[in-house]
Amino acid sequence: MNDLDQLVAAAQADFARAATPADLENAKARYLGKSGQVTDLLKGMAALSPEEKKTRGAEINQTKQRVEALLTERRAALADAELQAQLKAEALDVTLPGRSRSQGGLHPVSRTLERIEAIFGSMGFDVADGPEIEEDWFNFTALNTPADHPARSMHDTFYVDTKAPDGSGHLLRTHTSPMQVRYAVQHVKKHAAALAAGEAIPEIRVIAPGRTYRVDSDATHSPMFHQCEGLWIGENVSFKDLKAVFADFFRNFFETDDLDIRFRPSFFPFTEPSAEVDIAFASGPLKGRWLEVAGSGQVHPNVVRNFGLDPERYIGFAFGMGPDRLTMLRYGVNDLRLFFDGDLRFLSQFK
Ligand code: DAH
Repeated sequence: MNDLDQLVAAAQADFARAATPADLENAKARYLGKSGQVTDLLKGMAALSPEEKKTRGAEINQTKQRVEALLTERRAALADAELQAQLKAEALDVTLPGRSRSQGGLHPVSRTLERIEAIFGSMGFDVADGPEIEEDWFNFTALNTPADHPARSMHDTFYVDTKAPDGSGHLLRTHTSPMQVRYAVQHVKKHAAALAAGEAIPEIRVIAPGRTYRVDSDATHSPMFHQCEGLWIGENVSFKDLKAVFADFFRNFFETDDLDIRFRPSFFPFTEPSAEVDIAFASGPLKGRWLEVAGSGQVHPNVVRNFGLDPERYIGFAFGMGPDRLTMLRYGVNDLRLFFDGDLRFLSQFK
């Protein structure tokens, strides 16, 4: 074995010892690098006679090619080994059952809210949305419930330690009724010019569904619950319209005409006269039982005044109903808390 063959054998052994691509590049430098052994041989050719250059030069060049070929071969082997290792590490067991993606669904109360909006929408009601952290003024005072009114004690809630522009505090709204005032005031602002000219303005017809809060918690009360407010104000809107709206709504909502509605005299500071609305099904498990589903009444003149309207000219009704209660009735659920526990065993039944 001549010196060149030895060099090639040494390179081969060196390359074989390189366990990683980085090792291999270091080994390469020892032969083909700037001061590598092969490079040195090539440099040394300058000192050879023309005759020697022919023979020895050709041998050196051959040596270089052999070393380069060995390097390429080892590079490929290392890359292949790396790939094999990676494939092994990431082995896929194609016989494992797939991970299925579970299907979500709307919350039952959200379904009810959507139904309420669709049904009232078909009767020409706008849908409004408002703040859950409400000013004392909108929640109580503007609704004819001044600071010392006993009705406030029935609305025990969570007070927030900030001051509204009028000096009163903020609270988690105890009902959606403040939306009556917020919406009506906007409506009046929009039609201020017509009002100032003594012209009739378009009717107010709106529902305002949303979350409400009270210090209350048992099977039929949750500290957070839903209400849907309704308001219809015009020059000639009366209780008979309210009854027609309720009849339409409840028959649509429960998908049955076998349903009675009654108004029971009641009291709310913001309506006069006021009524509780009860429904009774003519068949089914709840047959014949009167179920309270809403509060309602003719909007009190003081409240109409707070809307910015003349109560001698504008009149109408308001109502507030409980979408949670409606959901319980529609699906036969007897514990309100189930809606808010977040238990998928319960919720997935409504998908
Ligand atoms: N806000 C009342 C409550 O939470 C419900 C209510 C009663 C709303 C009569 C109304 C109404 O708009 O006219 O108890």
